[in-house]
Amino acid sequence: MNEKEFKCALESYRKRVDEFLVHYLDSLKAVPKALKDSMEYSLMAGGKRIRPILCMVCYELFTDSVKEILPFACALELIHTYSLIHDDLPAMDDDDFRRGKPTNHKVFGDGIAILAGDALLTDSIRLMLSCNLNNQLISKAMKEIIDAVGPQGMVGGQVLDLELTGKNDCTLDELKHMHLLKTGRFIESACVCGAILANSPDSQISRIREYGKMIGLAFQIADDILDIEGDEKIMGKPAYSDIKKGKCTYPFLLGIEESKRLGWECVKEAISAISVFKTPQAEFLKSVATYIMTRTK
Ligand code: IPE
Ligand code: IPE
Ligand code: MG
Ligand code: MG
Ligand code: MG
Repeated sequence: MNEKEFKCALESYRKRVDEFLVHYLDSLKAVPKALKDSMEYSLMAGGKRIRPILCMVCYELFTDSVKEILPFACALELIHTYSLIHDDLPAMDDDDFRRGKPTNHKVFGDGIAILAGDALLTDSIRLMLSCNLNNQLISKAMKEIIDAVGPQGMVGGQVLDLELTGKNDCTLDELKHMHLLKTGRFIESACVCGAILANSPDSQISRIREYGKMIGLAFQIADDILDIEGDEKIMGKPAYSDIKKGKCTYPFLLGIEESKRLGWECVKEAISAISVFKTPQAEFLKSVATYIMTRTK
């Protein structure tokens, strides 16, 4: 798959996610206006939609359609958007820009921003349950995602992030563990849920899990690098935010070049984990792994 074909496929998956999210927002009735506006503001601000896309493609790797998995895949974007709204709050990273716009709390205030995050997280469960697929598979996928984003996953990782902020003697093991929890587990489980919902065998699920774990770690290493090398106009969020806050990041601990080397090592491992798959979807997933390290936003 060449670069142009990859970008075209990525854009077409992204559009399907955006269309579903518009439909989801339209379906919300009797929600206080400020809350709905705040949810819509962040949800439709234009993220990359990488988690739902991974879920869809890992499903499509074992099936021949994606339509039925859309509510589940898009529920992941609700969870991701909640995590970003809360991550930007003054009590957390205290950032003023996200997805090219002032952060949610800057526009709606801290209270509504917290509640919009709560609402997105809660409603993600409703969306997952609304999926027209086998109930046993849905429960299995929901358990996977809940483990990945709860205290043993993303939320736990965000706590480690707070605890390691300003700590000059953090070790590479601590840093890697934090990145695997705060970002890696969620991306891993987005991929795994696709494979679970397609009812694929455990042997295949473990390949997808290894792929997801490796691109998940690379994703946060790349995010750390972008904090220094990225253009804030392209990223839509501030550069040097980690440095200003004394965050423990890969470049902070190891420098840019070593961080890039480790990121590319993860990409190689991810690609090798799925080397047995030869379909166009598998080729797309291999391109995603490379894109994660070459992206500019
Ligand atoms: C940003 O995630 C937060 C991290 C986990 C690094 P994304 O880079 O996926 O942000 P959007 O969704 O494209 O805005
Ligand atoms: C990832 O870390 C945040 C979440 C898990 C929500 P960052 O704090 O580095 O993400 P950005 O850089 O603000 O997008
Ligand atoms: Mg953060
Ligand atoms: Mg942040
Ligand atoms: Mg960051």
